[in-house]
Amino acid sequence: MSATNGPVRTVLKGGTVLDATGERRADVLLEGDRILAVDEGLDAPVVLDASGCLVAPGLVDLHTHLRQPGREDAETVESGSRAAALGGYTAVLAMPNTTPAIDCAAVVREVLELGRASLVDVHTSGAITVGRAGEQLAPMAEMAALGVRIFTDDGTGVQDDRLMRRAFEYASGLGVTLAQHCEVSALSEGTCMHEGEWSARLGLPGQPAEAEELMVMRDIALARLTGARAHFLHLSTAGSVAMVAAAKAGGLPVTAEAAPHHFTLTDACCASYDATFKVHPPLRGDADVAAVAAGLAEGTIDAIATDHAPHPPEDKERPFDQAPPGMLGLEYALALALTQLVDGGTGMTEADVLARLSWQPAAIAGMERHGRPVAAGEPANLCVVDPSVRWTIDASGGASLSRNVPYVGRTVRGKVRHTVVDGEAVVVDGEAQR
Ligand code: DOR
Repeated sequence: MSATNGPVRTVLKGGTVLDATGERRADVLLEGDRILAVDEGLDAPVVLDASGCLVAPGLVDLHTHLRQPGREDAETVESGSRAAALGGYTAVLAMPNTTPAIDCAAVVREVLELGRASLVDVHTSGAITVGRAGEQLAPMAEMAALGVRIFTDDGTGVQDDRLMRRAFEYASGLGVTLAQHCEVSALSEGTCMHEGEWSARLGLPGQPAEAEELMVMRDIALARLTGARAHFLHLSTAGSVAMVAAAKAGGLPVTAEAAPHHFTLTDACCASYDATFKVHPPLRGDADVAAVAAGLAEGTIDAIATDHAPHPPEDKERPFDQAPPGMLGLEYALALALTQLVDGGTGMTEADVLARLSWQPAAIAGMERHGRPVAAGEPANLCVVDPSVRWTIDASGGASLSRNVPYVGRTVRGKVRHTVVDGEAVVVDGEAQR
């Protein structure tokens, strides 16, 4: 803060602004935590070079496992938020499968408090049931009073139909959204990959696509019954995408997300028996992968969400059937989406990809300071991306404390140059600033 001239001004110079309203060449002048002006020929004492770059609203991840409290050896709010900032994110939604679970006001407060000291805006989901045990509703109202807008037992789905109906009724009254990890445990218990040709060849127990689809079907029915909003986490099958498309066509209040690994990797990756490729829901076959990409392109799937799920090497080095599921995503999602969805011939544009990574997820989570148009007066939550940089993903895991990267050796397009959170440049020239 300068004593005479107010807050220091920064300009993002020479880029192409891209937001929900369209695309234009413009510099973006920031003052404090706001955008002061968007125009050509702007100057300021601090200049961040945006030439050749897209200047867009910061990305918003609806699905981040930050692992705190409880598994600080795998990730912390601090390390996960650094990975997020490096990936172009300005906000993340923490998943509640921590130890203890985020299922009451005290744990919500703890995570939000940790988030305040971190590089990005950390929001949290709350569990639907106490301890995510699927038996008793969690105190959703006290969590909603702290700003929780998305409730989920992610890691598992709520199996009990009657309990889920009651959760939808409460959610409707509270004006919050229920996000389901769709997996019927009666069909998935004891399995470790997708059921198909590869599980048969590898001799590994597989779960059928129907384990996911039956729960998608039930929750669409419950959304219809109760009028409450349902969000479908990490959709992975063609059948799920078709059901969500039909529900939307019927006017139901449903939204959906897909994870990068479900539009880039198939169950053939499991042939190595490397548990880096183990994830829930599992990697599927070619037709499902194509259906997820098409669902994103058509807009049936509203958001790309990372399901960033860090696990330390000693856990992932266990045999495939015993290792925990999950893979890293925050530092790769944008580049994977540009490479696979824009260059891969789905018909999606860079603007479509940014819609699914930024303003659409921000709307689903009710994050009012993110995904906003790049315009004077708006909060300065932005990412600056060089879409022409090609780079090869390595095994380091980036800023994460874990290294379970399933994309090692893959060459992708698009690199984050700067990330600005509430006016602070937290990533400059690809380096985290604190
Ligand atoms: O693969 C997964 N890992 N799927 C989930 O739903 C949970 C996540 C985790 O927490 O590791």
